[in-house]
Amino acid sequence: MKNSDYNSLFINTFVRSGPPLVRGKGMYLYNASGKKFLDFGTGIAVSALGHSHPLIVNELKKQGSRLLHVSNYYITPSQIELAQLLLKNSFGGRVFLCNSGTEANEGAIKFARKWAKQTSPEKYHILSFSDCFHGRTYGSLSATAQEKFHKGFEPIVPGFHYAPFNDIGETQKILEQYQFAAIIIEPLQGEGGVNQVTTEFLTFLREYADTHRIALIYDEIQCGMGRTGAVWCYQHYGIEPDIMTLAKPVGGGIPLGAVICKDAIAEVITPGDHGTTFGGNPLACALGCVVLKEITKKSFLKQIRDSGAYLGKKLNGLKEKYPFVSSVRGRGLLLGIQLDIDPAPVVNKCKELGLLLIKAEHHTIRFMPPLIVSRKDIDAAADIFEKALLMNK
Ligand SMILES: Cc1ncc(COP(=O)(O)O)c(C=O)c1O
Repeated sequence: MKNSDYNSLFINTFVRSGPPLVRGKGMYLYNASGKKFLDFGTGIAVSALGHSHPLIVNELKKQGSRLLHVSNYYITPSQIELAQLLLKNSFGGRVFLCNSGTEANEGAIKFARKWAKQTSPEKYHILSFSDCFHGRTYGSLSATAQEKFHKGFEPIVPGFHYAPFNDIGETQKILEQYQFAAIIIEPLQGEGGVNQVTTEFLTFLREYADTHRIALIYDEIQCGMGRTGAVWCYQHYGIEPDIMTLAKPVGGGIPLGAVICKDAIAEVITPGDHGTTFGGNPLACALGCVVLKEITKKSFLKQIRDSGAYLGKKLNGLKEKYPFVSSVRGRGLLLGIQLDIDPAPVVNKCKELGLLLIKAEHHTIRFMPPLIVSRKDIDAAADIFEKALLMNK
């Protein structure tokens, strides 16, 4: 099938090209023509343990022959185990299980609004920050402070406001204008260009939220689950949220998302307020347990920090060498390299040369390999990337 033929099959939401991908093993993906790709995009930060990891494959077989689906009118052992693991490894509270990142954020926004409205019916406003990305469904889309994603789909949901990321003065001005139910922030923005929140800004948000009874929501859908070298990115700051959302890698490649919520907020939610048919299905949760047990190992987290430091050194080396590399940002294995040249042809050239990377805002290219990446893989990726850079400068 030619590239143009894909558009006659699918609604044109993604630019897709080349032969279909048919197989994955470890750090590599293979297409139908047998071409091999080193995967530094990880299906947008999903396949944390790489492709076809034996632990995942075994659990798939085990749980697949045991039980695939029951509704949320019932409970299953893997749901219980996953909730226990999530709470033990975070800030406690209670869990809502769903299927994706956008759905986790929808849940978080609804829970925060219902909780805040106990104080006043006007306390429903939600604040988010420039360059953030929270998803594509209407609540999460409305929280996404990037106009390009709203274009053509207005009106967005009422009550959403935006402040400049890491700007305490401007944020305070906006916070003082409305009765806010929640502030939602990615501690490390992915899609928006790999931008880290400052300790000062997060401290300000925590203190303001506490004083004004606002729920502080961390969206750790991309930066959580070990990616930055701690189980959760917020742990680098030691500043806890009231609600946290996660998804992407948690299901080991099967759709799974979750909202973790402090008890005081969770307690206002009653049966019928919110729900999902598939959320927390037994298969996804069984895989979730495998992923969480693996990434919470101290030795695994240390390996992520070491690999992240090595990758950072490589990318900073390119920055020293080439004036058109303007900055390297991020933490652990979520790093972004900003170019003064158009990054799109560089990413395309990398693909041609056998390396998969993903763009972000502000001329940035994201490096987010599976967390099992080795130094040898990093060396190989850096070599291909440098070649592609030189071909496009
Ligand atoms: C930080 C963040 N939040 C939310 C989402 C939406 O997740 P999903 O695509 O699973 O709906 C994404 C996806 O890229 C994300 O990076």
